[in-house]
Amino acid sequence: MKVKKAVIPAAGFGTRFLPATKVVPKELLPIVDKPTIQYIMEEVALSGIEEVILITGREKGSIEDHFDTSTELENHLRKKGRDDLLKVVQEISGMVTLVSVRQKEPLGLGHAILCAKRVVGKEPFAVLLGDDLIDANVPCIRQMMKIYQDMDGALIAIQKVPRQEAHLYGIIKGKKVMDRVYSVEEMVEKPEKGKAPSNLAIIGRYILPPRIFDILERVKPDRRGEIQLTEGLKELNREVPIYGYEFIGDRYDAGDKFGYLQANLSFGLRHPEIGTKLKRYLKTLSSYC
Ligand code: UTP
Repeated sequence: MKVKKAVIPAAGFGTRFLPATKVVPKELLPIVDKPTIQYIMEEVALSGIEEVILITGREKGSIEDHFDTSTELENHLRKKGRDDLLKVVQEISGMVTLVSVRQKEPLGLGHAILCAKRVVGKEPFAVLLGDDLIDANVPCIRQMMKIYQDMDGALIAIQKVPRQEAHLYGIIKGKKVMDRVYSVEEMVEKPEKGKAPSNLAIIGRYILPPRIFDILERVKPDRRGEIQLTEGLKELNREVPIYGYEFIGDRYDAGDKFGYLQANLSFGLRHPEIGTKLKRYLKTLSSYC
């Protein structure tokens, strides 16, 4: 079945980025000159998905504003003859059809996805985490939609990570069934150090069947009161197959200080306006390293 809708959860508090995220959503922090979530919205649009369900929370209204038309700003740019910037601004609001749903309390990723139940309805849908940036020639979710055409169940993005970092991720144990595709046998959320069943980490892109909603409704909150998506996926895996897809591309955790800086450097070095200047500047820093 064709995937036509994408859910982008963006209601978390972003505590790893405080105090920057006290009033500014981490999803709006810029990677060079574009907010993280805009890269994600572009990935969705380039993948042919028609509708985005944005999960927002307190202090997150500015995300919706970013994707709305801004008549005042457009008039100002028109008056100033800045047609180049006018085009950039107009493209943002025309990207996709956006529906936003409020998650009243950030009760975990599983709960955030559950908030989209009514709008998604009874069809498979994509999930893209609002702070997970994937730089790829073919957009990651598009790669996944192609694989999903020939399968049932669920598809999750995975990536090999260094063994010593496995405890920071959800890790799968799986059997390779074709190039880059694993049949998932087990999933462990943030395994104890040295106890991860593999180095294949779950990354923030999923294609899920609507059945996940009924399951998430029954998942018990964890010790911190959060409903974890991984718990829902484990339950789902008892009913339908789940596959892991090792996508082609570079991934940045833009909700984490180090990942955010990595993304800025990587995109900055390729930016037509500042790339050469940045490269020159970084060379002058080599004495610090
Ligand atoms: P994270 O766990 O990275 O977000 O969730 P967080 O809770 O904001 O981060 P920290 O740990 O406090 O820094 C991944 C994505 O899921 C969303 C977040 O906004 C982020 O884009 N999310 C998370 C929700 O929408 N609701 C939640 O309850 C939790």
